[in-house]
Amino acid sequence: MRTCVGIIGAGPAGLVLARLLHRAGIEAVVLEARDRTYVEQRQRAGVLEQGTVDVLRAAGAGARMDREGLRHDGIELRFERRRHRVDFPGLTGGRSVTVYAQTEVCKDLIALQLAGGGPLLFEAEALAVEGVDTPSPRIRFRNQGREDVLECDYVAGCDGFWGVSRSAVPAGVGRVFERAYPFGWLGILADVPPSHDELVYARHERGFALLSMRTPAVSRLYLQVPDGTKAQEWGEEEIWRELELRLETADGWRLRRGPVTQKSVTPMRSYVHEPMRYGRLFLAGDAAHIVPPTGAKGLNLAVGDAVVLARALAHEKETGSAELLDTYSATCLRRVWQAERFSYDMTTLLHRAPGATAFEDRLQLARLDRLTSSRAAETDLAEAYTGFPLS
Ligand code: APR
Ligand code: PHB
Repeated sequence: MRTCVGIIGAGPAGLVLARLLHRAGIEAVVLEARDRTYVEQRQRAGVLEQGTVDVLRAAGAGARMDREGLRHDGIELRFERRRHRVDFPGLTGGRSVTVYAQTEVCKDLIALQLAGGGPLLFEAEALAVEGVDTPSPRIRFRNQGREDVLECDYVAGCDGFWGVSRSAVPAGVGRVFERAYPFGWLGILADVPPSHDELVYARHERGFALLSMRTPAVSRLYLQVPDGTKAQEWGEEEIWRELELRLETADGWRLRRGPVTQKSVTPMRSYVHEPMRYGRLFLAGDAAHIVPPTGAKGLNLAVGDAVVLARALAHEKETGSAELLDTYSATCLRRVWQAERFSYDMTTLLHRAPGATAFEDRLQLARLDRLTSSRAAETDLAEAYTGFPLS
């Protein structure tokens, strides 16, 4: 098989890239290791920056998002049983975010791709990426028990953190920057209307809690748990009780309970692989960088990379100039590091690290006090949350 751009992975990065290339008249083939049902059901975050919404609309994938997505003009910070609302449009000159689950974004993009895009092969696992420092790289993959080769001009490694494409960058070339956190998130989906109409980020001595949502009828909630926790260790009653404790306010706000339909633990990590390009291999999304979920930046970064890469490939096709391909890594990394900084700040602001000292506790509260009393500090949060520009 032969194509112009071989895309490994049908997560948001690979699917958005495939869509944008299709619209630019550039041939691409997407190889996805898992089956369609698995990809469409994997639970991930779902806060879309304004820029991400604009990209999905421009890519022709905005119809259902515009009908079902929920516009959010702010978030609530909770600490010391107090609540403080951060007003996004008021602080950023009109920007907001849209709550629309990543699974739904993927479903919409997959349907479009299968209806009129280039080939998207499910259960096609890339085994190795070869020859990325030559003019004709290849992806070796296995599909329905048979090994095959996809010859291409460029390879887009959109295969997430656990994928194979990053390993095609020679050890002496790549550099990794990372940080692990000694806690994770226990997340639940519950069939109950959200107890608040905006997301609530809570700092509590017992640990962080987040109230989010998927639809007006489905809540998504998270609890900080120690690293290594298994979801089965937490019973339903225990989860609701802990959420109530951590989200409690002095003004009598009530958490609504409902049947828990899904429960899982997400580890937390910050990770950046530099550079994001080696020869004809371009890494995009989680294949190149991971953020802890506290700022909801993962999906938005993946979409940003796909936009920068599609633009660079289209520029090369139209003008013959590789200029934008050459600056791909630097362009993406600037935005990636801003998201890393923000996600790290939000994580350390709101979580209680095991063994945190009384001094560190007081510092957290001082940071929260500053955020909620200084318009400058609050504007910094609102700008980062609603998203940094794509270029
Ligand atoms: N061959 C083919 N596909 C692969 C391989 C492989 N060897 N390895 C992994 N994949 C697929 C995975 O099954 C997955 O569908 O690559 C896809 C990567 O998708 P994501 O993990 O969703 O990564 P990305 O598209 O970069 O999107 C980042 O996803 O993890 C969340 O929070 C993160 O929101 C962020 C977003
Ligand atoms: C989610 O709804 O899953 C979600 C929302 C906000 C975050 C992280 C996850 O910061």
